[in-house]
Amino acid sequence: MEFTGKVVLVTGAAKGMGFGCATKFANEDASVALVDIDSENLLKVEKDLLAAGKKVKAFVTDISKSESVSAMMDEVIKTFGALDVIANCAGIQTYGDAIETTDEVWDKTLDVNVKSMYLTAKFGVPHIRKRGGGAIINISSVQSYVSQKQVVAYATSKGAINSLTRAMAVDFAQDKIRVNTVAPGSINTSMLRFAAETHSGGKSINEVFADWGKSHPIGRIGEIEEVAELVAFLASDRAKFITGSDYVIDGGLTSQAPVVLPNS
Ligand SMILES: NC(=O)c1ccc[n+]([C@@H]2O[C@H](COP(=O)([O-])OP(=O)(O)OC[C@H]3O[C@@H](n4cnc5c(N)ncnc54)[C@H](O)[C@@H]3O)[C@@H](O)[C@H]2O)c1
Repeated sequence: MEFTGKVVLVTGAAKGMGFGCATKFANEDASVALVDIDSENLLKVEKDLLAAGKKVKAFVTDISKSESVSAMMDEVIKTFGALDVIANCAGIQTYGDAIETTDEVWDKTLDVNVKSMYLTAKFGVPHIRKRGGGAIINISSVQSYVSQKQVVAYATSKGAINSLTRAMAVDFAQDKIRVNTVAPGSINTSMLRFAAETHSGGKSINEVFADWGKSHPIGRIGEIEEVAELVAFLASDRAKFITGSDYVIDGGLTSQAPVVLPNS
């Protein structure tokens, strides 16, 4: 019950890591503002968590639009009276190199993945300030450090998140608002399932996941609960000297160079 009396806003709460984080915070007794554009799944998450006795409310919002985030924040404050933590988990995956990527895809990727984090801070930090401090956790990706083919807009957005985190950590340290990045490797979510379908080569999703798992030294892909543990730690007072940092959670993926020894 680490978050008793705290109000936590989670974007992307309808699915994947956002759902995992929202569930973790709700289970730790927080009041949780569930934010997502996917109304059908978001309302189902709200219903299930309310049925389990948790303190949650759904706010269907396009987090890439300034007026939507501003209105949503007003509603969150009307509902819960305060704000302590923002977990920015929403995001979209897009594919293409610089030539193929249209202006529209580029702008949408940057708006949903990065601008949204600036907007939740713009409208949320004044409320966190009133509480005398709090925390913001931004989900980026291992693709902020290493890349692959055909992800120019996505990888750019993820690198930008790490820079945005450092800039906000410096700006808001005096307010005792800590800002950190969590950079996951492959995590078992609908986004990864979409990626597996796109690049399946005729294999089942489970086979693709098993193949991708082998590229992580731990030997498997990660689970949403494992990311939620790290996000909750960074949001808690246990992390009170940690700000401006990037936390990789990737089963060793980015630690391993593709070196082949003669006898291995
Ligand atoms: N799954 C992975 O392997 C992986 C790895 C590294 C980083 N990430 C990042 O982690 C974050 C969460 O990814 P996930 O795998 O849980 O994805 P997901 O697709 O399962 O969930 C993302 C959620 O964001 C919501 N969303 C998208 N656009 C929105 C908008 N404009 N307004 C509000 N909500 C919106 C979606 O509706 C969805 O519910 C993303 O930023 C993603 O880039 C994922």
